[in-house]
Amino acid sequence: MPEATAVEELATLESTAQAELATATDEAALRGWNTKYFGDRGAVKQALAAIGKVPKEQRAGYGLEANRVKVALETTYAALLEQAKEAAMRKGLSENPLDVTLPARPLPRGTLHPATQILRQIYAIFAELGFRVYRTREVETDENNFELLNMPPHHPARDMWDTFFTTTPGQVLRTHTSPGQIHVMRENAPHPVRVILPGMCYRNEAISTRSEIQFLQVEGLCIGEGVTMCDLKGVITAFARRMFGPERQIRIRSSYFPFTEPSIEVDIDWPADDPNRDRLTKGTGWLEILGAGMVHPTVLKNGGYDPEKVTGFAFGMGPQRMLMLQRAIDDIRLFWQNDQRFLKQF
Ligand code: DAH
Repeated sequence: MPEATAVEELATLESTAQAELATATDEAALRGWNTKYFGDRGAVKQALAAIGKVPKEQRAGYGLEANRVKVALETTYAALLEQAKEAAMRKGLSENPLDVTLPARPLPRGTLHPATQILRQIYAIFAELGFRVYRTREVETDENNFELLNMPPHHPARDMWDTFFTTTPGQVLRTHTSPGQIHVMRENAPHPVRVILPGMCYRNEAISTRSEIQFLQVEGLCIGEGVTMCDLKGVITAFARRMFGPERQIRIRSSYFPFTEPSIEVDIDWPADDPNRDRLTKGTGWLEILGAGMVHPTVLKNGGYDPEKVTGFAFGMGPQRMLMLQRAIDDIRLFWQNDQRFLKQF
């Protein structure tokens, strides 16, 4: 094979390949071209393989030229392939535009449990009045739940609370949040305290639309020098007005609790323009919202305070009942059933 011919063939190969490349308008055509020239049996591959067959004296010149042709073709091919891809993408975008205004699919978000919501409402109101939240245990000693609250064993007042006993002697599920008072007092005496004690309570009762074996209470306790019934009345009025409307009046009835003396129950007047008023208040216009009183001197003493020096008031309310009134919920069992149809309404 004379040298001129071999190198001439390379020149022909290059110009043919470049001409074909120029007519390849899309990615598929380009790839077809690539196989034709650079595939295993492609023309460029063969031209390179032919180096060995070129006479020795001409081999170097031929080799150089063959490699130059290879690189030139590869470079053009790579540039055209890039262009073709870009063009295809632009075409796709313009024919099938991406609609960025389409609203995103909503993420299903939960809400706070209604009981949590009402508790937080209560915390916020009492926070304004200077009360801090204090949490205590749900499994209590009989001593804290009853005895230190002025109910010795066999005291008839214990019958006010149907108690769940644990298998450990002397340990009960707390029947009210009042034993928390003992914890707060013993931790803070002789200093003044102003706290609310929210939490779950348990009573061994027949479950019905009106009573559950577990329910929330919020206890309040305020102790200091010169604390009077007037302060209690002011705090409850302020609470009732923030919770149930600025016009609310409160009514105080005398009552009995072993841990307070005197003891009271507090009613609020229900808005006259509420069509449910008669049903909720049994026709009286008044609705009971909590029990309260002045902390019994014996309880103060049990908590480590000197009843000669300080006085205090306490109250206990049922937030679930308040929510039931506010939102016309007619079955207390709905609270802990975890039925989405109920929970989603809050
Ligand atoms: N512990 C009482 C109950 O569960 C409610 C109560 C009444 C709490 C009067 C008090 C209070 O702190 O002073 O029925």
